[in-house]
Amino acid sequence: MFWEETSEPTSLFSSQKKKTYPEVKKEALTCRRCHLREGAQQVVFGVGNPNSSLILVGEGPGAREDELGEPFVGKAGQLLTKILEAINLEREKVYISNIVKCRPPNNRPPSSQEMEVCMPWLKEEFRLIRPKVLVLLGATAYKGLIDPQGKITRDRGKWIEKKDLLIMPTFHPAALLRDPRKKVSVWEDFQMIEKALKT
Ligand code: URA
Repeated sequence: MFWEETSEPTSLFSSQKKKTYPEVKKEALTCRRCHLREGAQQVVFGVGNPNSSLILVGEGPGAREDELGEPFVGKAGQLLTKILEAINLEREKVYISNIVKCRPPNNRPPSSQEMEVCMPWLKEEFRLIRPKVLVLLGATAYKGLIDPQGKITRDRGKWIEKKDLLIMPTFHPAALLRDPRKKVSVWEDFQMIEKALKT
């Protein structure tokens, strides 16, 4: 699974010694492994505190993120920042990333092949950060990382335990902008996340 370290190096990192966070980020920013980079202005790597016990993973950069080179800075991102603040977490204190690092055309969801090609970067973020809690923001992150047949409406709000990692699938903040009734569920999920981070 993506969060487990393997003895087999992935093709991207073969025969290399383990890199530091700044080295991985620098290399990721020049990535041209797939065609998504051609339609994007830049690679949008994760942001925040690489020593955080919490990592949040979304789908992929949107227009604003592509422009500014930072994940979750558009409308959905601003809502995410407020959700984090509601559980007394500053955005800068956690780590925020995406399953793909380049903006898919017209904000379509990334394909399974695009997610697979980009996965070594997320794996490296996991290796370096070693979070205690992983929050999957929306169906794409949930399906891409846990269960391709998964349903976010059915499975959100339930912890998935993998070794030392606690995983919480929840709705994507963009889904809350479209349907504010989902806010109640997300509030419940983030209260569980707050509790887990304290134990
Ligand atoms: N939606 C995402 O999934 N990721 C971002 O970075 C922004 C919007």
